[in-house]
Amino acid sequence: MKFFCYLQSIPLVSVSCISYNCNASSTCKKKKKKKKAIDPPPPPLCLATLYRSLHGLCESRKQMARRRVGFCLSDKKRRRMNLSAFADLCAGRGIDVVEIDLSQPMGSQGPFNVIVHKLSDVIVEAEYDSQSQELLSNFQNYISAHPQTVLLDPLPAMTKLLDRFASYRIMSQLQNTVKDKSICCPPYLEINTSERSAIQAAIQSKQLSYPLICKTRVAHGSCSHEMSLIFSEVGLCDVRPPCVLQSFVNHGAVLHKVFVVGDDHFTVERPSLKNFPPGPCDRSTIFFNSHDVSKPESSSHLTALDDSMPRLPPPSNEAMVALVRHLRAELGMALFGVDVIVNIHTHTLTVIDINIFPGYEGVPQFFSSLLNYIESIMEKQEPLQPVVDPSLASTQPPSDCNETLCPAEGKTS
Ligand SMILES: Nc1ncnc2c1ncn2[C@@H]1O[C@H](COP(=O)(O)OP(=O)(O)OP(=O)(O)O)[C@@H](O)[C@H]1O
Ligand SMILES: [Mg+2]
Repeated sequence: MKFFCYLQSIPLVSVSCISYNCNASSTCKKKKKKKKAIDPPPPPLCLATLYRSLHGLCESRKQMARRRVGFCLSDKKRRRMNLSAFADLCAGRGIDVVEIDLSQPMGSQGPFNVIVHKLSDVIVEAEYDSQSQELLSNFQNYISAHPQTVLLDPLPAMTKLLDRFASYRIMSQLQNTVKDKSICCPPYLEINTSERSAIQAAIQSKQLSYPLICKTRVAHGSCSHEMSLIFSEVGLCDVRPPCVLQSFVNHGAVLHKVFVVGDDHFTVERPSLKNFPPGPCDRSTIFFNSHDVSKPESSSHLTALDDSMPRLPPPSNEAMVALVRHLRAELGMALFGVDVIVNIHTHTLTVIDINIFPGYEGVPQFFSSLLNYIESIMEKQEPLQPVVDPSLASTQPPSDCNETLCPAEGKTS
């Protein structure tokens, strides 16, 4: 049936042009008239061959006309993001969303204009697991072999953000590079030892102030959200290396989550840890999970402020723009989040965390902004090259193709 539809919708002159690999039917017509007397007769047309050519051409054209974005996400992330709803939105703009299966060859799942991914699990596991290493290297090989495919976001930048030693180096450089002097990162230390005297000495030389917040080195996975607040030198026995120790900054229990999508950013307020009296005290270490204090629904005794605390003005938009612009350029990333608090004493914008492809909770514009960004990338691209799909070569003609209709070999019709 399909075959006859193709034949009906294509004028005969185009059909003969296709078998001669000629695209413009008008040029073809002229040539045909002129050369009729001298050209050797065209090769015999077999309907099966014709079907294959037409089918292949249509498939290639379809692929070239459609634009394709691949998503490589964990099941959890895919569900949380509601990828199927995003795919529906994309379909309305002529973009196919393809869910990439990393365990299958990527070549047969492409081509892609853009790939959006969050391979955090795989990157972290690849440190010790050979299967994850293989998945990651297959992915990397595909990206290297397809330079026309835009990857959101680059793997090296993501790898840095999964390691708090590396990400805090980036954050601490902010105050030197961003012109706006009201942006900073709290002083911190990379801790690789549990030797208390060595930690104490480092705290003094780097001028960290109590209380200290202690975070694991690895910034991904459920354990990475287990943190502690240390109030004195005695509490340093609770430090479990490798980790980061950072001065705690009083900020009125308000966290500003900045969500970046390409050149757009959106800011959402969240609950956060309450203020603590500055300086050492004999309080014992508080262990907590960051998701209990800074999720939209979080409600904890650690986030409850007393009513006398005045509300701070929100961070200036100018400073936020400068911050986002700097990090965009520094990381080369388009989908990330920045956690910002405002120091209650100095009103300095203080960056405490950078997140890979965050949840964008509370950002209703996320889908439209992401789609616009993906389209803006596609506008600058060449159309996709059709894949040479080996299955097309062996495509069988439809069962109702009567081979006896094929002209006999050597004879012209
Ligand atoms: N230096 C700091 N001073 C004051 N509060 C801090 C500081 N660092 C972290 N916090 C508090 O701890 C919470 C968790 O910190 P952080 O954002 O680093 O953890 P995370 O688990 O990586 O977060 P995410 O859920 O964004 O991945 C923050 O939301 C904030 O309430
Ligand atoms: Mg955070």
